Amino acid sequence: MLGLASTTDPRWVEVALADLDAVLLDHLHCELKAASNATAMVTRYPMHPRLARELTALAAEELGHVAQVFEALALRGVAATPPPEDVYARSLQRALADKRCEPLLDRLAVASVIEARSCERFGLLATHAPTEAMRAWYRELFASEARHHRLFASLAEEIFGEERARERIGFLVQREAEILSRSAPAPRVH
Ligand SMILES: [Fe+2]
Ligand SMILES: [Fe+2]
Repeated sequence: MLGLASTTDPRWVEVALADLDAVLLDHLHCELKAASNATAMVTRYPMHPRLARELTALAAEELGHVAQVFEALALRGVAATPPPEDVYARSLQRALADKRCEPLLDRLAVASVIEARSCERFGLLATHAPTEAMRAWYRELFASEARHHRLFASLAEEIFGEERARERIGFLVQREAEILSRSAPAPRVH
């Protein structure tokens, strides 16, 4: 359903549950970046009406997630800090850099893959998080990020054609699996 080339290392769940505060802090950074990335795309590409409309709505939804994560952190008494360098997103961008075709297509591909992996991991937390309230929250996030994954992929297909979009996203999906396989499971969303 998510079109990923690998499933998360089963050890990740254990690592994540052992430091949920760290997962939530990384999650906060992910939601903030998702909101600002969507806003940046609307700023740069307002000539694509569906992209402008749907990514404006998506940015608002991601900001709603930001507020939810702030609340979850506050409940646990965790202070928010600024994000460290985003090694995962940087690696995805770098994977496309040597074969760059169309900047917008690449941005949509990266966003689609990031949403898919977030979604997969929220799905794991929806099963394994320690409380029913958290599991219910992760179920909602799972559904929302699955929708976002499909939206970015369908915008890529609409603007660049199905074949070209699928080829580019498919290429990135393979690289993403390699990138993840090179790092040990950490208490992060990615
Ligand atoms: Fe989100
Ligand atoms: Fe999202």
